[in-house]
This record gives sequence, structure tokens and C-alpha cells, in this order.
Amino acid sequence: MTRERSPLHPDPATKADMAAILGGRRMRRNRRTDWSRRMVRENTLTVDDLIWPIFIVAGSDLAEPVASMPGVERHSVDRAVKQAERAARLGIPAIALFPYTDPARRDESGSEALNPENLVCAACRAIKAAVPEVGLVTDVALDPYTSHGHDGLLAGEEIVNDATVDVLVLQALLQAEAGADIIAPSDMMDGRVGAIRQALDAKGFTNVQIMSYAAKYASAFYGPFRDAIGTSKTLIGDKRTYQMDPANGDEALREAELDVAEGADMIMVKPGMPYLDVLWRLKEAFGLPTFAYQVSGEYAMIQAAARNNWIDGERAMLESLTGFKRAGADGILTYFAPAVAEILKR
Ligand code: PBG
Repeated sequence: MTRERSPLHPDPATKADMAAILGGRRMRRNRRTDWSRRMVRENTLTVDDLIWPIFIVAGSDLAEPVASMPGVERHSVDRAVKQAERAARLGIPAIALFPYTDPARRDESGSEALNPENLVCAACRAIKAAVPEVGLVTDVALDPYTSHGHDGLLAGEEIVNDATVDVLVLQALLQAEAGADIIAPSDMMDGRVGAIRQALDAKGFTNVQIMSYAAKYASAFYGPFRDAIGTSKTLIGDKRTYQMDPANGDEALREAELDVAEGADMIMVKPGMPYLDVLWRLKEAFGLPTFAYQVSGEYAMIQAAARNNWIDGERAMLESLTGFKRAGADGILTYFAPAVAEILKR
């Protein structure tokens, strides 16, 4: 008696059929045991891959929670020093500083950026004095300091490029004087990497490194960061005339090519997870130290889902960071840095 054949229920393959199909090739063999999975693992996340962004606020002994970034706080300078000490204890190579500027200190031209006593400069000096072994990354851009929340100077409707670069150069020099090890321009003005490199060299800061935000996209994932530095409510319009269009990949190669030619020591892609292809392409094309920024919105999504028990937060965190490694990142800026470092330690 012959059974009726249906395309949905084909006859099960016989053992001989399967053997013929597989020809002995069984991908699952290497995955059977924990020791074997570890042995064939291609990428490993280590504490050396982490850069920890930290928010600074005026005051003393202050830690203000950022509502849209559960687990992240703004720290007064004295507390930021404690965080830097924690980074050192955990073996995190570097921290990145971002200020929440008192709204009373913000103006049209972001003049607080050029105050040698501003929060970032004060934090640099305090942290360098207490924990010189931790690398200090400072952000070059005007958005924490402008009343309109843009990264550059506003003339009418336009963010003017060249006049902004002049200010960014001065901002970078102040940061270097205050002890910054890595200057990280995040403003996306044209020509700023070259201008900053020249000025640093002219002033004797030949050892200060530049990590350029080579491919920084006009992204919806920066929302919680703007809460943290207090620009969400003040930002007029959007940043699409200077940050990149999320639809573009080839353009990232041109952006990076310019930054590399202008003297960037390392390059970064931002945001992270939606742009792994860009990360891969830049690493392949230039072979430079290449970093990913797992931005505030990415952090917030994982934290929010984890706090609702919709995903396993710890596994999602580790998986997301391992994904950056697989895509070619030499390191990741991530708000998870201390949590990951604790896990990697045990
Ligand atoms: C601005 C800057 C931004 C971030 C770092 N530097 C936001 C923006 O461009 O508006 C975002 C970081 C994050 O979302 O975690 N110079």
C-alpha cells in the first residue's frame, strides 16, 4: 500500500539519504560541549575592549539618576574620580567624559566650552591627579554648552562649519591642557580632525591621540543621552545637516578616509548595533583601531526590556557587545562597561 505524498509531509529521509546529503559534514559536532564551544570560539570580549562614558554634573557628592538610562547617573567631579578609580580597579582602559552644563551657563555660542574651569576640564584635572593610569577621552562638540543644543555655531538657520572648527580647536586645546589623553570630536564638522591635529602639534601635544567620530549618523538612538546632558528640551530642529543620513554606507568610507588623511589615530562608528555593516567596512578598508559606540538608546532598550523581564539583560548585554567584536571593533564605548567588567572578572 502506498502512502499519499504531500509536499508538506514528505517522506522522512532514510539514514542513508541523510548520510548522502551531509557527506559526513555535521556543523553541530563542534557545538556539542562547553569545552569545544570555547575551543572554537572566534571572538572574545575582554575588559580591554571597554570604554566607559561618564556624565559629570556640578556640585559635590552628587549622583543624579538619568531616568531614561536606568543604572546611569550624573556624577559630581569628586564622585567621577571615584568612578575612575572603579574603572582602574576593574581594569577598564579608558573613560569618556560628558558634561551636564548648568542651563544658566549655556549661550548661543557655547562659550562655556572655552572656560578652562568648565566641568570637563575640572574633571580631567581631578581624575588625572588621582588615577593617571586610566585613559581619558573627551568629547569635542558644542552641544552641551549651546542654548540651542547644536554641536556648532548657528548663523540664522545654518550650523556654520569653518567658524565652528575654530572654536572646536580651542576646546580641544583646553582639554589637552587639562590632561585629556584622547580627543574625540563628535561634532561632524568638515576639516576638524586636521585642524585639531595641527593645533595640538603646534602646542606640543604631539602625544595626544585623536579618536574621530568618523561615521556619526543623525540617529533617534541619542535620545536618552540628550536627557543626560540636558539638551532634549532645548535642541532646535535636528542635526541632519551635519550628522550622516542613516541610509548611507559608501559615504561613511569617504568620511573616514578624510579623517584618516587628516590624522585620526583611531576611528569610531556611532550608533552601534544598527551600523555593524559600516563598522565592518571601515575596519576592512583602513585597518585602523576602530571603535563602536553603543549609544544611550541601545543601552536604554536593553535595560527597559530586561527590567520588564522580556529579555535576559545580562545575556543581551554580552551578546550585543560580542557582536561588535565579531563585526571588527577593537573596542566599544558602552554604558554597560562597569557591569560587564564585573562579570568578566568572575
Ligand atoms: C554630541 C554627542 C551625542 C552623543 C555623543 N556626543 C549626541 C548627539 O549627537 O546629539 C550621543 C551618545 C549617546 O547617545 O550615548 N556631540
